[in-house]
Amino acid sequence: MTERTTSPDRRWFLAALLGAILAVACAAGLLVGCAPKADGGNAGADAPAAQATDEAEDNPLAGQPVNWTMESDCATCHTTEAASATDAACPQDVAHEAEGLTCVQCHTDEAVLSTAHAEVTYDDKPASKATVATVDPATCIACHGDMDEVAKLTADSTALTDDKGTTVNPHERPAGERHDEVPATCTDCHNNHSKDLPKDAMKYCAQCHHRGTFECGTCHELRERSVS
Ligand code: HEC
Ligand code: HEC
Ligand code: HEC
Ligand code: HEC
Ligand code: HEC
Ligand code: HEC
Repeated sequence: MTERTTSPDRRWFLAALLGAILAVACAAGLLVGCAPKADGGNAGADAPAAQATDEAEDNPLAGQPVNWTMESDCATCHTTEAASATDAACPQDVAHEAEGLTCVQCHTDEAVLSTAHAEVTYDDKPASKATVATVDPATCIACHGDMDEVAKLTADSTALTDDKGTTVNPHERPAGERHDEVPATCTDCHNNHSKDLPKDAMKYCAQCHHRGTFECGTCHELRERSVS
């Protein structure tokens, strides 16, 4: 929320910081975004600030305000997300593209989107990871049915298997106090533009569980881990 109201100086700082984080993530091979990089995948090597300056010189629209609306051509700027629609490694997006879904059929929260774009100019780099919620899981549910419904489709799924071979249906976790207190919703695991859904889902589980084990209470008494 704070980023959108900050000064341009602070934006550059944040962009540089994000670049540094991306560089580390690239080096560690942790990047999960699957669309080919618009800049040829050199985000890890170049200083983002220098890159943006080059682009500002090349781009005749640089610095122009965007006057964003729900009818704007999203793909002009969100090249990564637009590309995932035709990347076979992104089955969710490819399936939705085949159904002719538009961006704003899922990104329905106009108020939040409008705020997010309020200060955007044509040479701003869009975020590569969601920082605000603009997709209402109710839209997924309207087309796919609720958790009980999709649980039937994944009854035989082995996508979520821990190191001991315990397998859990991603849409039907065993009943338990914490699971009931913190129910999962579609967008906790599903990013339409990601190529590694099982990994995304495991990351969700790892907010509470240690990596590699779904067990609890076997090594130590139950302790809380905070959930974002
Ligand atoms: C089938 C639904 C769906 C469609 C269609 C869709 N998105 Fe998304 N998008 C999502 C979901 C789900 C996320 C993850 C959001 C979250 O974590 O809250 C996401 C994330 C994003 C993000 C955040 C950065 C990222 O990649 O995680 C951007 C930007 C974005 N989408 C733009 C677009 C654009 C532009 C289009 C059209 C070209 C589009 N989306 C089409 C569902 C969709
Ligand atoms: C002129 C370029 C441009 C256009 C056109 C544009 N966006 Fe964006 N968008 C951005 C930038 C830059 C940001 C990052 C803003 C920020 O962080 O303050 C952004 C942010 C977002 C986010 C939030 C990502 C996050 O941080 O969670 C979503 C979702 C998104 N845009 C979707 C869309 C959709 C849907 C459309 C089409 C209706 C669209 N955008 C059109 C440039 C654009
Ligand atoms: C307008 C209706 C619609 C919306 C909204 C929608 N979907 Fe879909 N989705 C479909 C259709 C149709 C298919 C293709 C047939 C199928 O696999 O069910 C599909 C396919 C999928 C697939 C299977 C992709 C594959 O591997 O083949 C997943 C996963 C999925 N959607 C999840 C979601 C999630 C999560 C959301 C919300 C962020 C969402 N969908 C929003 C209609 C929709
Ligand atoms: C909000 C925290 C939280 C999240 C997120 C979470 N769990 Fe749990 N889970 C727990 C706790 C705590 C227990 C211990 C039983 C209880 O009190 O609920 C547990 C118990 C379990 C058990 C039973 C373990 C045993 O020893 O019998 C399994 C299996 C499990 N979780 C799988 C998952 C999977 C798979 C995911 C991700 C899809 C997940 N959990 C996400 C907190 C969480
Ligand atoms: C805990 C993480 C998680 C949550 C929450 C979640 N999903 Fe999934 N979903 C997955 C995983 C992982 C798969 C892939 C299973 C596989 O391929 O074996 C999947 C698969 C699917 C599929 C494809 C099923 C098929 O094989 O035909 C659909 C459709 C789907 N999810 C929709 C939804 C909807 C709608 C919601 C919200 C009601 C939702 N999911 C919530 C993790 C999750
Ligand atoms: C395979 C053994 C094992 C299981 C199963 C296990 N833990 Fe742990 N846990 C550890 C070890 C080892 C540590 C680090 C030493 C310590 O603090 O006791 C730890 C530390 C923690 C901590 C403090 C540090 C941190 O990572 O946040 C919390 C909280 C915690 N565990 C919660 C849980 C919860 C919740 C579950 C079940 C969902 C669980 N643990 C299951 C072995 C386990």
